[in-house]
Amino acid sequence: MALDVNAIRNDFPILSRVLPNGHPLVYFDNAATSQKPKCVIDAMTQYYEQYNSNAHRANHTLADEATQALESARNKISSYFGTNPENMIYTSGATEAINLVAYGWARYNLQKGDVIVITEMEHHADIVPWQELSKEKGVEVRYVPINTESFTLDMEAFDVALDGAKLVCVVHTSNVLGIRNPVEEIILKSHAVGSRVLLDCAQGAPHERISFDNMDADFIAISAHKMAGPTGIGCLLVKSDVMDKMGPFMTGGSMIRRVTTDGSTFQEGHAMFETGTPRIAEAIGWGAAVDWLSNFDMKEVHAHVHNLAHFASQEMSKINGIRIFGDPSRSDSSGAVSFLHDSIQSQDLAILLDEGGFAVRTGHHCAQPLMDALGVPSTNRASFWIYNTEEEVESFVKHLRYICDRFS
Ligand SMILES: Cc1ncc(COP(=O)(O)O)c(C=O)c1O
Repeated sequence: MALDVNAIRNDFPILSRVLPNGHPLVYFDNAATSQKPKCVIDAMTQYYEQYNSNAHRANHTLADEATQALESARNKISSYFGTNPENMIYTSGATEAINLVAYGWARYNLQKGDVIVITEMEHHADIVPWQELSKEKGVEVRYVPINTESFTLDMEAFDVALDGAKLVCVVHTSNVLGIRNPVEEIILKSHAVGSRVLLDCAQGAPHERISFDNMDADFIAISAHKMAGPTGIGCLLVKSDVMDKMGPFMTGGSMIRRVTTDGSTFQEGHAMFETGTPRIAEAIGWGAAVDWLSNFDMKEVHAHVHNLAHFASQEMSKINGIRIFGDPSRSDSSGAVSFLHDSIQSQDLAILLDEGGFAVRTGHHCAQPLMDALGVPSTNRASFWIYNTEEEVESFVKHLRYICDRFS
């Protein structure tokens, strides 16, 4: 059954916004952050209006309600990702989740000379922590290149890089190219050589029902705000035997068992990694978002978004001067279409698109090594999600054609 996109749109108050220039908003910046349905906004408002309190700290009614809501959100979210609450650590987003692997696992378990394999396609969140750890511990970071014809990972180079690897860190779906990597093959091959695997699912989770236990990755990093949830929260999913070998990353309140002037002992499990006041409103909002997303078959969501991206790229490539990066015709490609015009600067193009009401992202997308591989400093990126329509794509292409005809 196809998605009822018009009904879905009614759940998002912002989608009926008219911009100051009089144009209705057409939101194509979903890979940066998705919009939030009313149920998420309401759940967070209700927390602040009815039971705002700190969690895990006091015995009064409000504190009990806040604690219960925080933990009930953990139950829902972990279950949505096919795993147990004990395997989920709340973080501020995918960035903090990856840093937690670097500083809470790799720092304790890797030695000088150990190999970490990453790819040229990673977001900076999955590059810089490894570069910094390399400076601190002397681990070797190997980069798997991309094939710039097919825009896919060079899997032969991956096989070579895997030799001696202790950790493989790969983006599930590229935020620039929209291409999904062969993560199942990567996990199997990595485990065959005894390496742990971290998947960056920041872009995968909005387009696919991620099941942590079935996928068998050792770590999965996720951001809530790209999948209808609020900003400021995400999680790291971790296998139990791997979590047992992690040590503290951030220290302070909440994560301790006992503090004396001689030193401190720590909580076990996910509590060791959740330091300070929890992100209570954000967790409640994310819980509401996964409830909302559970109404849909993610295969249909992927098909809808893929069809929009494929249609957009086909129409855009008919416009003189437009070059597309990625291959939106691939069935595993999701909602991001990166493009450039050969004579209109990407910033100028974004401003001209904005004048028509179209919100697209411009820049290096926190993926400068990928930009270097593509030989460009930046791209424009239109990225689609569950509430976007073919009519929006048609009007976008029409406006893009108008700009290109007029200004090139
Ligand atoms: C592939 C990928 N990884 C990681 C991140 C970082 O996510 P956050 O900024 O929510 O921590 C992003 C955000 O754009 C992303 O697209």
